Amino acid sequence: MYDPSGVCDHGQVTEIGRDTLSEETFFDSVGGEETFRRLVHRFYQGVAEDELLRPMYPEDLGPAEERFALFLIQYWGGPRTYSDQRGHPRLRMRHVPFTVDRAAHDAWLRHMRTAVDELGLAPDAERQLWDYLTYAAASMINSD
Ligand code: HEM
Repeated sequence: MYDPSGVCDHGQVTEIGRDTLSEETFFDSVGGEETFRRLVHRFYQGVAEDELLRPMYPEDLGPAEERFALFLIQYWGGPRTYSDQRGHPRLRMRHVPFTVDRAAHDAWLRHMRTAVDELGLAPDAERQLWDYLTYAAASMINSD
């Protein structure tokens, strides 16, 4: 079982991912790679239709979808392919080229909410995932 007590969470909440002494990671407990790929795919369907967000992203959303999926997979305890390919996440730094203001934050979270809802996770898992996403989104704001 994933241990929600926090004893295995060594800080760096938004980036490094969690070590876990327990047998099953959050990644495994919610269905592994397929779940994160579904989440990110649904999220990018929302981005594709969004007038504010769409212009920030590259024309081909496929590689962006792949980067985000690999990041979340790694963060939640799955394979570390993201860092193998991209190095340290440094997410705030990587978002500096984009204007992440309150409106962008709200739009981002709105598409993410739809995507999370459609996963149909158990309530505890859903809350944990959502808490992380809202915390991370707030920390990405870099503009008034
Ligand atoms: C709050 C509003 C946010 C906006 C408007 C935003 C926007 C963007 C944009 C435009 C990109 C470039 C797409 C690409 O080429 O990969 C990007 C990349 C990325 N974003 Fe965000 N983002 C937001 C929040 C977040 C959050 C909360 C996370 C993590 C939970 C996140 C994780 C990533 C990752 C992993 C990448 C790819 C980084 C890389 O280059 O390796 N973003 N984001």
